[in-house]
Amino acid sequence: MKRLTFLFVFILFPMAFAATANANDLDETLRVKSQNPQVTEQGQKLFEQICASCHAKDLSGATGFNLKDGEWVHGSAPSQILNNVKTGFLNAGMPGFKAVFNETELEAIVAYVLSKREGWGDLSYKLYQLNGADDTQVTEDKLIKTGELPKGLADFSIPEVKHYFIEFEGDFYAPKDKDTQVWLQWGFPHELNVFVNGEHVEKGGTAWFPTWRLQRGKQRLKVTYRSGTSKLNQRNLILIGTNLDLTVKLFPLSTKAKGIVEEKKYEIKAAGEILVQRKRILDLPPSTVSIGFPSKLNYGFNTKSCSVVGLWQGEMLNIGPNIAGRGEDPSLPLGEWVFHAPKQLKHATESAACRYKRYRLEEGNPVFSYELEQNQYTLTAIPRSSNTLDFVYTVIGPQPVKLVLPDMPQVRWRHGDKQLSPLDPQGTVLKPNKDGRVVITATLQQP
Ligand code: HEC
Repeated sequence: MKRLTFLFVFILFPMAFAATANANDLDETLRVKSQNPQVTEQGQKLFEQICASCHAKDLSGATGFNLKDGEWVHGSAPSQILNNVKTGFLNAGMPGFKAVFNETELEAIVAYVLSKREGWGDLSYKLYQLNGADDTQVTEDKLIKTGELPKGLADFSIPEVKHYFIEFEGDFYAPKDKDTQVWLQWGFPHELNVFVNGEHVEKGGTAWFPTWRLQRGKQRLKVTYRSGTSKLNQRNLILIGTNLDLTVKLFPLSTKAKGIVEEKKYEIKAAGEILVQRKRILDLPPSTVSIGFPSKLNYGFNTKSCSVVGLWQGEMLNIGPNIAGRGEDPSLPLGEWVFHAPKQLKHATESAACRYKRYRLEEGNPVFSYELEQNQYTLTAIPRSSNTLDFVYTVIGPQPVKLVLPDMPQVRWRHGDKQLSPLDPQGTVLKPNKDGRVVITATLQQP
């Protein structure tokens, strides 16, 4: 016994201590690196090349876990994450990357992962029992329960008492590169209050969809809720982090919101055939029909303006927000925009009124027909390769064909052998061939 104590105190204890000290140093090193844009940019490149295929480009998870939600199955300390990336989880399908990258690269990847952290960390709650629906006096003697919420989600199903006040507080990581807000879905008339770094945040939005602005990056976030006269079934609140116009659900803040945010994994990919979708798409105006080609080029044709309102390269759509959000949320293009409205490929006309008729499929590819200033048009797009697309117009009618091209550095426009300059806002007059066809070719530049 004595010997063992001796052994522990003089040999094992210092060893154990040294090991934690090293881990702590490494944790700190990785945290500092996660604040360094040069490091995280390098990490981002490597992540997108290697890890994104399983963890998604935005880290929201696919076959591999979500890496930005603060929920860690295999350890949350930066040094543990680094170690997990090195050794991998072969049984679960993740290779180890120790032999693939050097230490600096591995640390850059982990720093990037840490920098993308979203949501609550070190979240805890305090529950107070109140004397009735009208009781607004929250005092320490009414505190009945406290606890930690390791998943970083406010759990509004904790209270078992009828009248209560509950408070959730923790460090909160909002995106650093965009403005976000907390959104209470179907909220009215709950008594919810939000505090950022100790300051009360003004309620915005509408009565039924109230919102509270967050700061960018890390902050202290507290959310309090008093049950008041709300009915039992209204008390499990859906708190979601969104962008400012509520079109994208970014991260869940409460347990009930988690499913809603994560069910966004409905991806439409044009694998073997051309796909046509009529769903509302983020950044594109309503009444747009979108077409995805297997060559990973996609465009949107707007039936109100009869113009090409968007072109993107990559997979087609994530319609998850559309499905999970009761059909009101727009789908997200999965690739990269080449251009989107208000930049568009359109007719240069004074009278904007076009009359859209229909589309028919030619070998699965939609051909849109419409009428504009006494001319009858059809428009279709035919990809030639993964970066070249022909827009084929046919025209019957007395008016010249005059098009305005979207001016974007990522795309070059040609009409036959002739380079087109997109800079003329008056439009470019294009002469149809003897069959009434005008073909303009978009060639996408490699970024
Ligand atoms: C071939 C698919 C695949 C690739 C590539 C991949 N992962 Fe994973 N990753 C997984 C899977 C699957 C899991 C879940 C393991 C499990 O079920 O325990 C995982 C788990 C993880 C975890 C643990 C998460 C937790 O909750 O503790 C981390 C961290 C991680 N991956 C980081 C990375 C990084 C960084 C890269 C790129 C260097 C990467 N992964 C590449 C599939 C992959």
